[in-house]
Amino acid sequence: MTAASATVALLSAPGPTLADHLATHGPLPPGDAIAVAEEAGLTGRGGGGFPTAVKLRSVAGGRRAPVVVANGSEGEPASAKDAVLLSRAPHLVLDGIALVAGTLGAASAVLAADAARLPELAPHVAERRDRLPVRLHPVAAGYLAGEESALVAALNGRAPVPTSKFPPVRERGVDGRPTLVINVETLARLALLARGDSSAGDRALLTRRLERAGRLWVDVVDAPLSTPLAEWLPLDADVQAVLIGGYAGTWVPARTAARLSLDHSGLAAAGARLGAGVLAALPADRCGLRETARVVHFLAGESAGQCGPCLNGLPRIAAAMDLLARPAPPPPDLLPAVRRWCGLLPGRGACSHPDGTVRLVAGALGVFGPELDRHRAGTCTARVHRAFLPVPRRPR
Ligand SMILES: Cc1cc2nc3c(=O)[nH]c(=O)nc-3n(C[C@H](O)[C@H](O)[C@H](O)COP(=O)(O)O)c2cc1C
Ligand code: SF4
Repeated sequence: MTAASATVALLSAPGPTLADHLATHGPLPPGDAIAVAEEAGLTGRGGGGFPTAVKLRSVAGGRRAPVVVANGSEGEPASAKDAVLLSRAPHLVLDGIALVAGTLGAASAVLAADAARLPELAPHVAERRDRLPVRLHPVAAGYLAGEESALVAALNGRAPVPTSKFPPVRERGVDGRPTLVINVETLARLALLARGDSSAGDRALLTRRLERAGRLWVDVVDAPLSTPLAEWLPLDADVQAVLIGGYAGTWVPARTAARLSLDHSGLAAAGARLGAGVLAALPADRCGLRETARVVHFLAGESAGQCGPCLNGLPRIAAAMDLLARPAPPPPDLLPAVRRWCGLLPGRGACSHPDGTVRLVAGALGVFGPELDRHRAGTCTARVHRAFLPVPRRPR
């Protein structure tokens, strides 16, 4: 079978070297990244699920040659897919950069990733002979550092915080040039699609997180989107709910999740979306409100506090979630107030960080409604108080 007709999983090369890569995938054929993305209906894997062809077109054919920024920041604490991809298949990402840079006639190309990962990536970059050398950029720690305008700000020597949406980075980004910020998984998928693997656009890297017999399991799989979610997570009585997408995602009760497929319309049926590809199965012995409150504190603390919704709204919601997460009656007007704030914040920040946070909170208040009632009556489901979802500690 030729590479062109095979279905090859993203993580299938036996090792990360160029020799491993070429033996598994063969050389990158010449191609037009826009046509490839369009034909496959590829959507971005950085969280927003935006059509890749539309995005590529938005920076093509302008007066100034654009800059391509491969986004391997992975600020989402529950996600490990981009780190695994960069360590297992760096040349698929570099092929994706070469393909996109060639199509756009890019002036320069950058691969942004955690500083700790760069020494491992440098030899892979060095052994290639691409038209455009790829520059490695260390991403600052933080949930927001991978947001596209924050990343562009850092590349321009400024603080790594989101900036105003106007002008957008696709018009004025790195060095004032039109800039394409594109997730590393999206690039790797383009590299497989360009080789004729038409299934590559219909799969996704998923970070699965679950506990079995008190033991935590975290891994990354390359899953077809047409498959049921239940094929990838055991959704038995030991699981009460699944967090789908990540910390800007949605809680779904386990019995609802058991009926969903991973594709866009399947997840949309439960008000969810794939986001950053996180599937976290909350064990039955934990309190979903307490888990959500911890995450919301983290998210509120990550904002640079530049806009009203982050400065005033998120800390207020985080404090309210603390009260709702306790097994005690909350102040009577607290729950309606949180619901009201959740309705007020979306669309009001310079970036969509507040929108993602209130999506998580609003979903939790619905899915863990029975838990809210228990707390009101002074009891709580939690039998185990060990945290399930990861929340990084940052030096302040
Ligand atoms: C708060 C916030 C954090 C983000 N963090 C990341 C990230 O760590 N990695 C990433 O690829 N995209 C992240 N994004 C999305 C980027 O802004 C951008 O849309 C994405 O890199 C585009 O890639 P795609 O079109 O391939 O999805 C984040 C967005 C927001 C609002
Ligand atoms: S909405 Fe929040 S995170 Fe986004 S730029 Fe404004 S203050 Fe920063």
